Amino acid sequence: MISTAGPPHTDDDWWRSAVVYQVYVRSFADSDGDGTGDLQGIRHRLPYLRDLGVDALWLTPFYTSPMVDGGYDVADYRDVDPMFGTLADFDAMITDAHALGLRIIIDLVPNHTSSAHRWFTAALATGPGSPERARYLFAEGQGAHGELPPNDWESIFGGPAWTRIADGQWYLHLFDPAQPDLNWRHPEVRAEFEDVLRFWLDRGVDGFRIDVAHGMIKADGLPDVGFSTITTGQRQVELLGKGRLPYFDQDEVHEIYRAWRPILDSYPGGRMAVAEAWAETPQRLARYIGPDELHQAFSFDFLDATWSADSFRKVIDTALAEATVVGAPTTWVLSNHDKQRHVTRYGDGAEGLRRARAASLLMLALPGCAYLYQGEELGLPEVLDLPDELRQDPAFLRTGESRDGCRVPIPWSGEVAPYGFGPAGSELSWLPAPTTWRALSVAAQTGVPGSTLELYRAALRIRHAHPALALDADGVTWLESGPGVLAFSRTAGDTTLTCVVNLSGAPVLIDGYGQPLVASDTLTGQGSGHLLPVDAAAWLERH
Ligand code: GLC
Repeated sequence: MISTAGPPHTDDDWWRSAVVYQVYVRSFADSDGDGTGDLQGIRHRLPYLRDLGVDALWLTPFYTSPMVDGGYDVADYRDVDPMFGTLADFDAMITDAHALGLRIIIDLVPNHTSSAHRWFTAALATGPGSPERARYLFAEGQGAHGELPPNDWESIFGGPAWTRIADGQWYLHLFDPAQPDLNWRHPEVRAEFEDVLRFWLDRGVDGFRIDVAHGMIKADGLPDVGFSTITTGQRQVELLGKGRLPYFDQDEVHEIYRAWRPILDSYPGGRMAVAEAWAETPQRLARYIGPDELHQAFSFDFLDATWSADSFRKVIDTALAEATVVGAPTTWVLSNHDKQRHVTRYGDGAEGLRRARAASLLMLALPGCAYLYQGEELGLPEVLDLPDELRQDPAFLRTGESRDGCRVPIPWSGEVAPYGFGPAGSELSWLPAPTTWRALSVAAQTGVPGSTLELYRAALRIRHAHPALALDADGVTWLESGPGVLAFSRTAGDTTLTCVVNLSGAPVLIDGYGQPLVASDTLTGQGSGHLLPVDAAAWLERH
């Protein structure tokens, strides 16, 4: 038995066992028919999310932005981009969300601004050594005439992480050249983001998802990594989560969060922050979490687990053990806007969908908080065949890898694309949905027994109501099970809920765990037990 001891669950602790639904704003719901999702669109669809049974929404960036990186290039941190609406739309949306009992988490992008941000345009307009440049990471190049980048750092999106400007200096951008990295050793940068936090907390947001939370501090002297794609064929980014990079996970980054936490804590109602952080080990990742830093960090190891019992068991045990150390429950995630959807990761087609449904039941039975990505409740696969000319991910041009396939607008209803994404009669959507999505729309799945949407609804309903699942602090008890089968139970009082996942190649008999509550596939009775099909999961209850 591994225990994730924590304080008793209070309203301020809502995030500890919450189910958070990630809204990729551009692709969720379009209220004005321009083919782009917007805040009013979200507002109209809030009842759907309440009925689905989630506790909170995480909204990807909707700030003023040239949209070079889907809004992760912010030009004004205190305003809404006209393509998404207005601040008044935001206020109306959050008011309605709160009235429906849904909390709102927004994305904060502190590692870099857009190159269209007033600070960066001022930095370009002034010369080397100016106070305006000091807010970013400008440096002289190497070589006789400064014609080589200051060091060997590579952009996560491919190519060098430095761009040279007309006067000869270079600036750092760990992502696209349109996303210059801020200098977080500069007091004005720190003061600015503390103020931005307050701006949105004052507007009622319940939390922040911190983008590239491991990136803000760079090692002193900007030392070389020591290998590059050119010399080794291996991209530096492949070290993420495996080795140390001088531009990620530096110890000083924690000072920033220790300054932010008192700000969050000074507001009522349990305002929280979740880190998108990549660190060398689960131990280093855990350092982002705690009573004086952030509340959560995504467990990407869970997302990266392969379809095998050993793989899942290993990451679950490690994550639960770390949770015990830091006193905060784990933050599970299977899909997001940067990763291939889990239906496709697990094999695509019917097999991928079966496995994805089982993995979702596994995730939702674990102690801690779970993040869902819009469309996973519909069993959407990655769209692999988008025409290249429609792809917008800046990484695509530099690496050939594109995240657009998980960002295709949600199918809501109807017979023709974009399936109710916009208002009646609207034919526009910034990325086209495949014809197969007609059968996957919300309307097509609502009320249909066995549909993925109804599976999620049932699982979320049980998760909320069941005493053993509502707890965040009871750990899990692994049960003896055959090879390729995961089985664990959670107990509250005299009620035990058991989750069994069949990752073996043959149906397994499940006996003695009690009555099935929900299953990702059809169970058939056999004697006193049930047969759990291949690639399926079930929750069973015993008193
Ligand atoms: C994060 C976001 C990703 C974005 C990057 C740069 O990883 O999730 O979408 O491209 O940061 O801001």
